[in-house]
Amino acid sequence: MNNMQGKFPSTRLRRNRMKEFSRRLVAENTLSVNDLILPLFVCEGNKVDDPINSMPGVSRYSIDKLLSEVEKAVKFNIPAIAIFPQIESGLKNSEGSLAVDENNLVCRSIKSIKKDFPNIGIVCDVALDPFTDHGHDGLVINDKIDNDKTLEVLEQQALVQANAGCDVIAPSDMMDGRVGRIRTALDSNNLADTLILSYAAKYASGFYGPFRDAIGSGSNLGKDGKLTYQMDPSNSDEAIREVGLDISEGADMVMVKPGMPYLDIISRIKSEFKVPTFAYQVSGEYSMIKESINKGWLNEKVVMESLLSFKRAGANGILTYFALEAAEKLKNE
Ligand code: PBG
Repeated sequence: MNNMQGKFPSTRLRRNRMKEFSRRLVAENTLSVNDLILPLFVCEGNKVDDPINSMPGVSRYSIDKLLSEVEKAVKFNIPAIAIFPQIESGLKNSEGSLAVDENNLVCRSIKSIKKDFPNIGIVCDVALDPFTDHGHDGLVINDKIDNDKTLEVLEQQALVQANAGCDVIAPSDMMDGRVGRIRTALDSNNLADTLILSYAAKYASGFYGPFRDAIGSGSNLGKDGKLTYQMDPSNSDEAIREVGLDISEGADMVMVKPGMPYLDIISRIKSEFKVPTFAYQVSGEYSMIKESINKGWLNEKVVMESLLSFKRAGANGILTYFALEAAEKLKNE
């Protein structure tokens, strides 16, 4: 009836888009600084700011310089940072023994950050790859990644990090059963309040390339790379099984990684489990976007567009190398 009286078409979706005020009113998703986690690379030394070739605008910092980066995050009110160490190659070995040393680079970074900035959340990876000379996340025994022997080490790694003051233990190794083992270890060592953010659906992705340059973990992985433990990019149901297991083993939050190529996975996980879900916009995604902006091929607006896509898919938050840049934009909005 309406259609007969008024002029065609009676529904004009463009009306809401006509002015800025109505665009703002009808916006379904928003990005806020509360959604951001800033990943940072740390290395040994003093006053080191060592740019990473394949990640324009991102550096490895010695602890003193790392503190200035954390200070920026604190000033923007970014809730948390994630620390990744570049271990000197002479200190790596096949067992990754330094991972469980309470004075390693990660633990020293945690302590320094907590001393100066007690309130910012600190997230630390649990996985052996920064510390092993072969670059795998687990122990290689008879040419295979040994799941259960790896768990024993991961448990210890989680404990040294949590004891140093890490707030959020983030197992990124993809061994079976690790979340349960780490939860039990934390609980029986007076660390019941330490959170676990599980890299639950972590895919065997080519988009980690620049990260492996950054921490020097990429050259010795062998022909199968990490395919025997990270997920096959063709799978989606399997991500649901991974997340279900990690939640039942005690994960407080789960993560999907990489980010933009896996938005469908975030959306499925969020609608099936309704748990705090995070996306990791990984190094390769960052570099593609950043370098295209630097070259003038893309407008810098794509940064916020890319981050908003995670919110639309249902993510609660995003680990992104754009965190400082995004926080600055949000502040000026
Ligand atoms: C290590 C780890 C990786 C990333 C985070 N933790 C790389 C890998 O699994 O090889 C990738 C992050 C990025 O690319 O930004 N377990």
